[in-house]
This record gives sequence, C-alpha cells and structure tokens, in this order.
Amino acid sequence: GKVAVMFGGTSAEREVSMNSGKAVLAALEEVGVDAHGFDPKFDYLDDLINKDFDRVFIVLHGRGGEDGSLQGALKLMGLPFTGSGPQGSAFAMDKVRSKYLFKGADLPSAPFAVVKKGKHFDSKAILDSLSGRVMVKPANEGSSIGMSQASTPEELNKAIETAFKFDNEVLVEQWVVGREITATIVDGQAMPLIEMRTPNEFYDYEAKYKSTNTEYLCPAPLNGELTARIQELAVEAFELVGATCWGRVDFLLDENEQPYLLEINTVPGMTTSSLVPKSAAQHGMSFNDLVMTILSQTLA
Ligand code: DAL
Ligand code: MG
Repeated sequence: GKVAVMFGGTSAEREVSMNSGKAVLAALEEVGVDAHGFDPKFDYLDDLINKDFDRVFIVLHGRGGEDGSLQGALKLMGLPFTGSGPQGSAFAMDKVRSKYLFKGADLPSAPFAVVKKGKHFDSKAILDSLSGRVMVKPANEGSSIGMSQASTPEELNKAIETAFKFDNEVLVEQWVVGREITATIVDGQAMPLIEMRTPNEFYDYEAKYKSTNTEYLCPAPLNGELTARIQELAVEAFELVGATCWGRVDFLLDENEQPYLLEINTVPGMTTSSLVPKSAAQHGMSFNDLVMTILSQTLA
C-alpha cells in the first residue's frame, strides 16, 4: 500500500528530522515501496486523510511527532504507524515522568530535582542536594536542545531560564562523570552498543550534528558482561515506559562501570550517519533492511 513518510514538522528538531526523513524516504523508494514524503505543519490531518495512505512511517523528532499526540490521532484514524503507541511515546518523550518511572522500578539513573515555571525554587539547595554539579534539561526536548550544565547557583538560575524557553517543566540532574553509551532497540531487541566520544563537555548538539571530532565506537569497547547488562537494562527501560518496536536508550557509564539511564528516544535520528543505523550495520543489517524492519511492525 501507500506509505506516508512523515518528517520535518514544527518542533525544535525539524532540521534533524528533515535529514532523517529524506534518508528513510530514499531507502523505501529504493526498495520499491510506494512511499511519499509528508511534512506536517499546522492543521494537516484533513490533508493526511485525503491522500489515502495505508500506513505512516513516523520520522518526526520531538514535540508533535515523537510525544504521542500524532500517535493518538493516527490510532483514532485507524491508520497504522511505525514505532511506539501514544502512551509509550508520551512517557519516553517526557524526561521528568521517565525519571519517576525509572526510580519506581529501581532502575539506575542519576538523582534529580524538578522545577516548574512560576513556582519557587532554591538554586543553592538544589545544587547542595545534587553534589554541586548538575545538567539542566527541558522536560520535553531532544538533540540536547535547551540543555546546559551548572555548578553555581547563578549558573543554575541561568540554565533553568534557558530551559524554560523550551518547556514549562525542567529536569535538574546530578552530573555523572562518565562515558556516553547508547543502546539501539530494533524489533524489541538490543543491538550492538555504541560509545560516543567528544572533546566537548558532553555529547551536545554540536557534537551530534556538526563536529567532525566526535568518535563513534561500535561495538562499544566494553566487556561482554557489561555489554549484556547495559543491553538488558535498555530493554527493561524501553518496556517500562511502554515503548515498542524500535528506539534508542541513552546511558552514562561512570568510572565504576555503573550505567545510568539518561532517556529513551522512540523516534531516534535516522540519517545514514545516525546512531541507530550504525548499530544496525554492526549487527549486519543494512539501512534498507532496518527501514523495512521498522515498517513491517506498524501498529494499527
Ligand atoms: N532526538 C534525536 C533525533 C535522537 O535521539 O537521535
Ligand atoms: Mg532524546
């Protein structure tokens, strides 16, 4: 049938999604799928219905595409789509609610505080309670947009102000000194791990999309036992938030080899140089095979 590849959109990650979507569309066309690009701007549902698609391949990152709202609409329309359903998408997108789930299930993740717009907070007390150095994140963003670190109350105030430009709720996480590791999930299974090494302070937007100094090690140079533990944790966290089919689970690994869950991405980057395709390739799965595997698991 006719497949809509939805990409672009209106979130802060639009540019990333344009690149992911073009790669997915090209792969589907190459395999002979009747695929059509669809860039949802505003008030697009009638247009989507009128075009008579049979399935939707979602390659929208961030709000409005990865957060469960589109998934809910498609579910009501009875139009099958790739990836997680409304609930799993919503929990995974929301870093604050994800943290509460991790904590409730005793999965390892860094201590944190939550700050809400319009509510009082005490920067010094937050810093003192989180070992003096923190990472500040808008609750619902991706690609490290709106994130900054802080180690003084003044820096924390500024970091929270920056994050409030993107969201009404902000996550303040204890800083974990460690290696950045990611686990790809395809077909509900963990694939080879990747370690990202950057000269930047962390794997930020620049390191992700602009830098030529970011190194990707796949498989991540970790022993078999630790690799298996992180992969198990990835699947456990993925299932915990209700995510299904495919995605990517991000970690920090401290010097004692303790993994800390960062977050779950239900529509991770899919440019030909993105992490999920790298991991799939290491597993022996080509980009076209990866795209077809994801498409074959559309939910109704
Ligand atoms: N949020 C970006 C697209 C990622 O997770 O790859
Ligand atoms: Mg993310």
